[in-house]
Amino acid sequence: MRTQVAIIGGGPSGLLLAQLLFARGIESVVLERKTKEYVLGRIRAGVLEQGFVSLMEEAGCADRLHAEGIPHNGTLISYGEEIFRVDFTRHTGSPVMVYGQTEVTRDLYQAREEVGGHIEFTVENVVIHGADGDAPHVTYTVDGVARRIDCDFVVGCDGFHGVSRQTIPADVRKEYEKLYPFGWLGILSETPPVNRELIYANSPRGFALCSMRNENLSRYYIQCSLDDTPEDWSDEAFWDELKCRIPAEVAAKLVTGPSIEKSIAPLRSFVTEPMRWGRLFLCGDAAHIVPPTGAKGLNTAASDVHYLYNGLRDFYENDSTAGIDSYSEKALARVWKAERFSWWFSSLMHTYPDQSGFDLKMQQAEIDFLRTNTAAQQAMAENYVGLPY
Ligand code: APR
Ligand code: PHB
Repeated sequence: MRTQVAIIGGGPSGLLLAQLLFARGIESVVLERKTKEYVLGRIRAGVLEQGFVSLMEEAGCADRLHAEGIPHNGTLISYGEEIFRVDFTRHTGSPVMVYGQTEVTRDLYQAREEVGGHIEFTVENVVIHGADGDAPHVTYTVDGVARRIDCDFVVGCDGFHGVSRQTIPADVRKEYEKLYPFGWLGILSETPPVNRELIYANSPRGFALCSMRNENLSRYYIQCSLDDTPEDWSDEAFWDELKCRIPAEVAAKLVTGPSIEKSIAPLRSFVTEPMRWGRLFLCGDAAHIVPPTGAKGLNTAASDVHYLYNGLRDFYENDSTAGIDSYSEKALARVWKAERFSWWFSSLMHTYPDQSGFDLKMQQAEIDFLRTNTAAQQAMAENYVGLPY
């Protein structure tokens, strides 16, 4: 088989890129290791930057997002019993959109199916060949049968555990990583959200986040130990702990109910450089991971897709390699800023096992500065709604 762009990974990055390329008449094939049902079973964050929404519009996939997404003009931050608001729209002119990543992925699959986009599921043994030459190809198996795709470019959208990043020789790659000494225990419950806007809570017992998917579906998280498993936490224990970490006036309004999903995610910051090797490009989690505080994962994947899509358009429409040649540099410049924001917000809001009295005072002073300083709120708002592409 031959195509123009072979895309490894059918998560949001790969599907969005495929759909954008399709809108410009550029052919692609998406190779996904799992089934569609499995990919749609993953629960991830749910806050979209305006830049992401615009890309979904350009891809022709934004109707449901506009109908069901909830624009949020600000967020609340609490510290013990203290609570204050950062107003996004006032500081930046732009809200964020609350709409689950699972729904984004569902919309992208539907759009791909409607136009007959080529996606191969349950592929195994994906190997990228000749990415450092002019004629790359990808081999893989489906049900034990060997297949091959010849292409102009290969795009690795295969997440943190994919094969694409590993295809770049170790002596070319430079990796940067920070692991955090805690995880997030998250639950989804069919209860009304405790508040109209998200609440990020710093408490002496650890971080908590009150988020939502819609008016009767709430998403809550609490910082937990990396040794914990979801089975260690009954729903009752989760709700009790959450109530201890948010201001009493908010806890009093919390509606609890059975969890319909419960999982633990570790927190990691990771970047690999460069994001291009010959005719292989990395996008999204394949190249970088952020801790979830601030919901930058999907949004940062989207800015990669934006730069690469425009670079590939430039190549096919104008016969220019300028866009693909500057891809890695442009994408990384924005990635590092998202990494900085996610690291800063995580550092500000969590309790660290080895935190000294001095460290705690610094955290407290920084939160108080954010509470009272307009410039600090503006800086946070600009980062939260998304830096320009
Ligand atoms: N071959 C084919 N597909 C693969 C392979 C492989 N060897 N390895 C992984 N995949 C698939 C995974 O099954 C997954 O569906 O690649 C996809 C990668 O999707 P994501 O991990 O969702 O990554 P990405 O599309 O970059 O999305 C970034 O989603 O993962 C979240 O937190 C992340 O919010 C961020 C956003
Ligand atoms: C979520 O709703 O899952 C969510 C929201 C904001 C975050 C992280 C996760 O910062």
